[in-house]
Amino acid sequence: MEKKTFYITTPIYYPSGKPHIGHCYCTLACDAIARYKRMQGYDVMFLTGTDEHGQKIELNAEKEGITPKQYVDRVAKQFQDLWKLLNISNDKFIRTTDDYHVAAVQKIFKELYDRGDIYKGEYKGWYCTPCESFWTETQLKDGKCPDCGREVKMANEEAYFFRLSKYADRLLKLYEDQPDFIQPESRKNEMISFIKQGLEDLCVSRTSFSWGIPVTFDPKHVVYVWVDALTNYITALGYGSDDDSLYRKFWPADVHFVGKEIVRFHTIIWPAMLMALDLPLPKQVYGHGWLLFGDGSKMSKSKGNVVDPLILCNRYGVDAVRYFLLREIPFGADGLFTNEALINRINSDLANDLGNLLSRTTAMVQKYFGGKIPAQRESAPIDDELISMALDLRRKCDEAVDSYQFSVALTEIWKLIARANKYIDETAPWVLGKDETKQARLAAVLYNLCEVLRIVSILLKPFLPDTAPKIQQQIGAGADVLTYEAAAKWNLLPADTTIVKGDALFPRIDVAKEIEELNRLIPNPAEKAAEKPAEKPEGVAQIGIDDFAKVDLRAAVVKACEPVKGSKKLLKLTLDDGMNGRTVVSGISQWYKPEDLIGRTVVLVSNLKPAKLCGVESQGMILAADVGEGAKVIFLEGVPAGSKIR
Ligand code: ME8
Ligand code: MG
Repeated sequence: MEKKTFYITTPIYYPSGKPHIGHCYCTLACDAIARYKRMQGYDVMFLTGTDEHGQKIELNAEKEGITPKQYVDRVAKQFQDLWKLLNISNDKFIRTTDDYHVAAVQKIFKELYDRGDIYKGEYKGWYCTPCESFWTETQLKDGKCPDCGREVKMANEEAYFFRLSKYADRLLKLYEDQPDFIQPESRKNEMISFIKQGLEDLCVSRTSFSWGIPVTFDPKHVVYVWVDALTNYITALGYGSDDDSLYRKFWPADVHFVGKEIVRFHTIIWPAMLMALDLPLPKQVYGHGWLLFGDGSKMSKSKGNVVDPLILCNRYGVDAVRYFLLREIPFGADGLFTNEALINRINSDLANDLGNLLSRTTAMVQKYFGGKIPAQRESAPIDDELISMALDLRRKCDEAVDSYQFSVALTEIWKLIARANKYIDETAPWVLGKDETKQARLAAVLYNLCEVLRIVSILLKPFLPDTAPKIQQQIGAGADVLTYEAAAKWNLLPADTTIVKGDALFPRIDVAKEIEELNRLIPNPAEKAAEKPAEKPEGVAQIGIDDFAKVDLRAAVVKACEPVKGSKKLLKLTLDDGMNGRTVVSGISQWYKPEDLIGRTVVLVSNLKPAKLCGVESQGMILAADVGEGAKVIFLEGVPAGSKIR
């Protein structure tokens, strides 16, 4: 018999900045579900990727003086490396710059055009000529360009449109016929009222920038980035390519997981596009909530208040981060990320509840029975509740996972863990251990605890893929007693199993000390704003060579230079630093004109923390000497860009 299939997707993320903990959240959620479904025997396709076109990327690349492709290659790799680190089990990683995707999008665009659902029209809007940008009425600032503040004029641009308006009724009917299509329920009502306000046709091409997929039959147009991005869910499976066997096998998707801010694209534009192509619709779109900082602001790249997943994983281990994100926030709702909450979860749930259950159990099996539990075991009525709870756990987890409530699944697992810890206190094995006549009873108690750990480890594995095998190794469980089927059976650990106490699963953290350290590493934005600049030291303290070695000085060539808008002192320098290039802001415009600097080699402090000056991010600083009231930049001769200076 063929296995049942299950297809789950994350949004494809914009590589316009480094991945942050918000991206990790959705990807981890999908990963846990994908792993659970595989364990249940489904043939799973789990897709993630990067959404690499659009003006923002083009601008970011330009700022660094590299091509858009070089830019996205670098950031896409950061995403891929992070997923590897987090043990993400995706089956495919799609990049919208992949050839097969580009070709398929071009085919789909043409097909929609041939069917009459895409037509050529005119885009009307307020146009800022120097910025080459269209703005809507509401985007204007005091009637002027919101970017540069100059006059705008009403202008028309030729563009292609998708007949979205035509699908309003079919979309409303879809939500009615398929009540689970949009989850959670509350998001459905938002979409219904959005459609009822009237759907306009969607502008699906752009001519104002070029970093996108060209329209084959009119190549000065590039395809609107959302049309390009949404199709990834089928192009990744080979739709529109020669080999579309995966598409035929896995489409329609069982669920698209997306953040709540992009539910609209996934439940209006995407199904309408599929309707226009006569293709089946995804079974469900699940709009999850946002991770918020302690001060209630959303984590996002543009705000810069970004918790670095690498720092967290390095300090606590990948599974601690996985556990926190999956356990702390009910899927669908917004949730707070605070350093305190993270450490408390690690200490109380992982180190205490789970860690102690394992270490107490294995330590006692070693102490009382030298690592092997005797086959002769005597049960007692108090065992029944523990055993029936353990045998019911799989059903409860299945139910929670089926409705994507993994925080509920984890809560259920921890209820059993708590029950087992209480069982230790109730049965007091240390008392039984002193009584020669109670050895069979003691054996039963410890055996039951090992069985609980075995079942817990099976059901926990999709969530904590590194930790579960450690538990299984310590209790000596082999593959045959660790299957999904085995999670609903009792008495499976063989009598001759060797149990070996191992390292603690999660070391306890000194909360006060750690919070202080974490707040230093990952400042909350509110606290950061309150920080006062450090006082200038009187005199100059001596430093050791080690302190000096912390400063990374490099030769850098000034490639471009311009004054920073709105500042009398600042120049913005684009530097070739021998690496990826960077932007540095320097307060020297009273003494230097851009043309004095372009082409010259300067000394760059390359590992200085980036800082924003007049809205421009400065990635380091250049050295200059104070001379009288002025400053003289230190220039180098005959030193290639990137050379280390020490
Ligand atoms: O929207 N909390 O990409 P994106 C929780 N390329 N989840 C968060 C989050 C936060 N603070 N920040 C981001 C795009 N996310 C498009 C998608 S799909 C065809 C195209 C997660 O890089 C969340 O899942 O802005 C959100 O929807 C996604 O990252 C957006 O990533
Ligand atoms: Mg976004």
